Amino acid sequence: MALNILYVPLFLCLLHIATASDAETEDKYVEKGQSVVLKNTKENTEDIQWKNAEHICKMKNGKPTGNCVLGSIESDGSLTVKNTKEGSNNDYVLHNYKDGKLLIKKTYKLHVVDPIPKPNIQFNCTAKNAACNITYNKDLQFKWKLNGNDQAHMKSKIYPLPSVISQVTLTCIVSFKDIQKESDSTDIKCESLDLPVLPPTNRKRENPSKPHCNHPRSQTQPRTQTQTRPPPHQRCPPPTADQRINDEAEDHPPPRPRPRQKAPSYN
Ligand SMILES: *[C@@H]1O[C@H](CO)[C@@H](O)[C@H](O)[C@H]1NC(C)=O
Ligand SMILES: *[C@@H]1O[C@H](CO)[C@@H](O)[C@H](O)[C@H]1NC(C)=O
Repeated sequence: MALNILYVPLFLCLLHIATASDAETEDKYVEKGQSVVLKNTKENTEDIQWKNAEHICKMKNGKPTGNCVLGSIESDGSLTVKNTKEGSNNDYVLHNYKDGKLLIKKTYKLHVVDPIPKPNIQFNCTAKNAACNITYNKDLQFKWKLNGNDQAHMKSKIYPLPSVISQVTLTCIVSFKDIQKESDSTDIKCESLDLPVLPPTNRKRENPSKPHCNHPRSQTQPRTQTQTRPPPHQRCPPPTADQRINDEAEDHPPPRPRPRQKAPSYN
């Protein structure tokens, strides 16, 4: 009985060793044409062998021996596979021996994928969002930086723009497995998003703090029949004394609240 209890931890220990060696297989992804380093995970270079289905590369006492078709063995025993192509898709198996004893056997499954293009950022001030523009033949993960800071909660291709966006730069990072590509940091320039979008003819206004009305004619001049009335959002209310006092607050009617901050100026 007592003996059985002693054997249980030993059994669990053996089970653990078995699963640990099962786990010594690693998927490795590389873009076609790039190099990839397959790590020697033990600090021993006495006797190293790297094999795939056809070839073998060896290192003895820290020195590569013979011709290595697979790539090159680095001083720490890692294997660099250079200029990968479709044919590099293969299992690369590391055997690391010390004093004739196998320290580790590790299999790297190499997957050569199409190069991932560099993404670029498209923003849409009307829709109040930015998109990470990229086309790829596999599902990508998206990440964003706002003014250089990681936005960990944003994991979608579309980024909703903050409502006040003066001085905003966005960067998007796409990844597939361990391959990552980053866009240029892109300045986002919109009219302040809290303000209604004005027709193109009115874009270059002199005074951005009063964006909603024009003074096209003087008050003393009566409107002639040929003059068309400007659309309501461009019209100024008649300047009564009250309104001149409350100008800042009642410039245009609710429901749209005025932003509290000074409207930023854009050049
Ligand atoms: C921007 O968004 C608006 C509204 O969602 C849409 O109608 C417009 O086509 C978009 N513009 C571009 C260039 O995608
Ligand atoms: C997306 O990026 C490609 C180049 O990577 C570019 O040709 C294309 O115009 C971009 N799409 C949009 C909507 O700007």
